[in-house]
Amino acid sequence: MTASLIDGKAAAERLRADVANDVANWKAETGRVPGLAVVLIGNDPASEIYVGSKARQTVAVGMRSFEHRLPAETSQAELLALISQLNADDAVDGILVQMPLPPQLDANLVIEHIDPRKDVDGFHPANAGRLASGLPGLVPCTPLGCMLLLQSVRADLAGLHAVVLGRSNIVGKPIAQLLLKADCTVTIAHSRSRDLPALCREADILVAAVGRPGMVRGDWIKPGALVVDVGINRLPPDAAGKSRLVGDVAFDEGRNVAGAITPVPGGVGPMTIACLLRNTLQAARMRSGA
Ligand code: GUN
Repeated sequence: MTASLIDGKAAAERLRADVANDVANWKAETGRVPGLAVVLIGNDPASEIYVGSKARQTVAVGMRSFEHRLPAETSQAELLALISQLNADDAVDGILVQMPLPPQLDANLVIEHIDPRKDVDGFHPANAGRLASGLPGLVPCTPLGCMLLLQSVRADLAGLHAVVLGRSNIVGKPIAQLLLKADCTVTIAHSRSRDLPALCREADILVAAVGRPGMVRGDWIKPGALVVDVGINRLPPDAAGKSRLVGDVAFDEGRNVAGAITPVPGGVGPMTIACLLRNTLQAARMRSGA
């Protein structure tokens, strides 16, 4: 069997077009456009690229983009002061502080300082708690993108056994909550779980979010399963000096067993920023009550 490929690039394009359309309608109703503030501390090259794409895509869907670039040695007090200012700024509907942070900064304190109504990453404990309680709120972008991709190949996931590899606050835990909300039976597996291959073989839906290139082998996958690969791992340059992005799933093996699979690149990755834009519009709507 050859799995169908789940095209995240095309799905992200459609989502951005929907958001652009909704932004135009919201502007006609309210006279306002949603605004997203992105804060980058230091000059991590990968983060610079992400922040640049976020700003471009924000403007492309008709929203305002506010970029704040702070030096690597910024203190906790300075960063919290900027967040307070953004919390109070009515033109700012969403606040994203790009991770990872330099070592002197405490990510948990920074996240907790963001107004939960503007927390478009969905990382604030208030939003994590709302998700776990089944209440409406802002949901982390990558898990949201995974769910939209899964639902694009199978609208009803009820009763399926989903195995999530990884238990991070950013991906593993929130996607487990979303799968549970979609009536899946959910197993969260992690580095201390026993017999990962056998656990994975039970999965109708397998979500890999561990950050280990090619860890999930073909014989870990149940024939016909839906496989979502959240891993984005950059391999060291080969003999020709080219470095390559690979997922957590050994793709060439996985695609011969799975029913549908997300490639890396071009799967989950493109959905994350599209979902960030969707969250920013949602945050603007929630704050304005519209
Ligand atoms: N760094 C890499 N991905 C993300 C993300 O989704 N949100 C934030 N805040 N930082 C990131």
